[in-house]
Amino acid sequence: MPLGPDRLNYLNDVIEYLDEIFRDINQGYLFDFLPWLIPFYTTHIKKIMHWSTTKRKFILYKIVDCRESNINLEEPDKDFTDALLKSLREDQNVSRNTIIFMFEDFIGGHTAVGNLIMLVLAYIAKNPIIGELIMQEVDFVSNYGVRSISLYDMNKMPYIMAVILEVLRHSSSPIVPHVAMEDTGIPGFGVTKETIVFINNFVLNISENNWKYPAQFEPKRFLDQTPVLNKLGKITKKNYNNGFQLKKCIPLFLPFSVGKRTCLGKNLIRGFGFHLLVYIIKNYNVNSADFSKI
Ligand code: HEM
Repeated sequence: MPLGPDRLNYLNDVIEYLDEIFRDINQGYLFDFLPWLIPFYTTHIKKIMHWSTTKRKFILYKIVDCRESNINLEEPDKDFTDALLKSLREDQNVSRNTIIFMFEDFIGGHTAVGNLIMLVLAYIAKNPIIGELIMQEVDFVSNYGVRSISLYDMNKMPYIMAVILEVLRHSSSPIVPHVAMEDTGIPGFGVTKETIVFINNFVLNISENNWKYPAQFEPKRFLDQTPVLNKLGKITKKNYNNGFQLKKCIPLFLPFSVGKRTCLGKNLIRGFGFHLLVYIIKNYNVNSADFSKI
């Protein structure tokens, strides 16, 4: 159904609020771990409440209620929304709140992809050589535009993925907060139940212990230059960029967090981010008239 102007404005507000919430959640305020400070933050907390209730209403009235009244359990799912709403009717273990949280996370996640790609374009505009190197990869794999590029080509295009990772290193949430559900330990430290534990991405991503020249924007740090071996351990024909491959494991780089609460959308970001970026670079020149403003 096309969105009328009112619905579109409402949707824009919701997307803006989701952006604000995501930015805010991971800032790490003092009151996150000193809750007695909350009275000093009431204006801020009211603002967050306004953002969350607006997006919750949107999801309830414009998505869940509209679709739920027309759902036909006999027909195959039209999309993800149908599948979620049907699971609510068919599986007694799925609660209404679970469905709403999933919608919120997935809509919020998509705004994160949009923001990530906007940032990648800003870095390309600021460092035109990066755009040129991506274009070389696109030209090579598409045979200078003779064939289209699909997700199956991702492994052949390590540089473009390395650019996305380097942008994430520079921009991912500074902290990821968690709460211990039981008494436990992190090597060297005891952690009692209800302790708040932060993954400190900010330090992990800029520490000189983890990265060479961390302040520099250098996608190649995510690449290994190892020749590709075949099953018999023989060197196969090197790919065009001298055997560069995306590093398989970068242990201290956690933009999507780790463990059972790791980001559910991380593979979607890889695929969707890759596709979007290839399409834009193939079809547009990305530059800025005034780099100093980026
Ligand atoms: C640049 C894009 C994104 C980044 C950097 C990102 C990062 C994160 C991080 C750090 C977490 C917290 C994990 C934790 O608590 O340990 C998270 C959770 C989550 N993300 Fe993403 N995310 C992105 C995009 C997406 C997308 C596109 C989706 C889905 C369409 C998505 C779905 C989720 C969900 C459902 C969770 C909650 C997982 C859970 O609590 O079990 N994210 N994400």
